[in-house]
Amino acid sequence: TYPKRVKVVEVGPRDGLQNEKNVVPTPVKISLINMLSETGLQVIEATSFVSPKWVPQMADHTEVMQGINKVPGISYPVLTPNLKGFQAAVAAGAKEVSIFGAASELFTKKNINCSIEESLERFSEVMAAARAASIPVRGYVSCVLGCPYEGKISAAKVAEVSKKMYSMGCYEISLGDTIGVGTPGSMKEMLTMVMKEVPVGALAVHCHDTYGQALANILVALQMGVSVVDASVAGLGGCPYAQGASGNVATEDLVYMLNGLGIHTGVDLQKLMDTGTFICNALNRRTNSKVSQASCRL
Ligand code: HMG
Ligand code: MG
Repeated sequence: TYPKRVKVVEVGPRDGLQNEKNVVPTPVKISLINMLSETGLQVIEATSFVSPKWVPQMADHTEVMQGINKVPGISYPVLTPNLKGFQAAVAAGAKEVSIFGAASELFTKKNINCSIEESLERFSEVMAAARAASIPVRGYVSCVLGCPYEGKISAAKVAEVSKKMYSMGCYEISLGDTIGVGTPGSMKEMLTMVMKEVPVGALAVHCHDTYGQALANILVALQMGVSVVDASVAGLGGCPYAQGASGNVATEDLVYMLNGLGIHTGVDLQKLMDTGTFICNALNRRTNSKVSQASCRL
């Protein structure tokens, strides 16, 4: 059985644009988010308050946060790796943040320049500040089905890190297949372990589509009771510290599949496809959404 409704978390403006070679002009980012706000999405991850030396694409985080129309009822979370990022995010008007850890030591080192243990210490500082400010915090765990530096990652390690971040007070744990190597088999094995530690109602999946497995992996997660799915319009995305990782599952393709299953999302597929066309034209690239590619030819 499937969940009756699914919350789609749109990560294109952050996960998608953080990885673009050419700097995307701030007005384009703002237009993208404003168009996404008209599609019926409830959650749109807007930007990252990370070091501009590490990720120059997100250096305009404050301008983006201040420039977008914040539609009541829609959440615009931002990534905050540490207290400095959290404070900057709140100053820019963020009402929700995400901390991002990983189940791999080497990836954690490459991505946020510390060990898993140190990352959890930094996160608990963010959690304390967020609690004081009544700001909800989402937690990402990367490399849940494989790591670009360590290869295979044990499901037990994923469960351990997920449990720690959930126990800290994250309201939701988003399990990231950062390099898209998972298959329905490994997704099922990993989720079985994680669900022993974190209630399924607090889990999300975040599937990059590098190996073309994202929709199949998401389907398995839905069958196991997961009802929150991350996706990126036009399939934009990747991680600057995971070379070769391609974009997330395209939001258009996810919504098409969920529509077919009769699962409610509240998202208007046509408006979503128009938004995908807008950002692909602005970036001068072809969409990664199969649904949009097909519809163009019809
Ligand atoms: P660091 O160099 O170890 O930090 O970087 P530091 O604390 O030693 O500070 C060094 C400098 O950075 C200082 O400035 C700080 O002020 C500054 P300086 O004195 O040299 O001028 N700094 C900051 N500036 C702005 N915002 C901040 C901040 N913190 C320190 N928040 C740090 C540590 C975490 C900052 C760095 O490693 C970093 O920014 N990493 C970001 C990596 C990133 O954004 N990766 C992509 C997102 S994760 C992802 O894509 C995966 C996901 O999609 C899920 C999945 O797919 O699996 C979420
Ligand atoms: Mg990602």
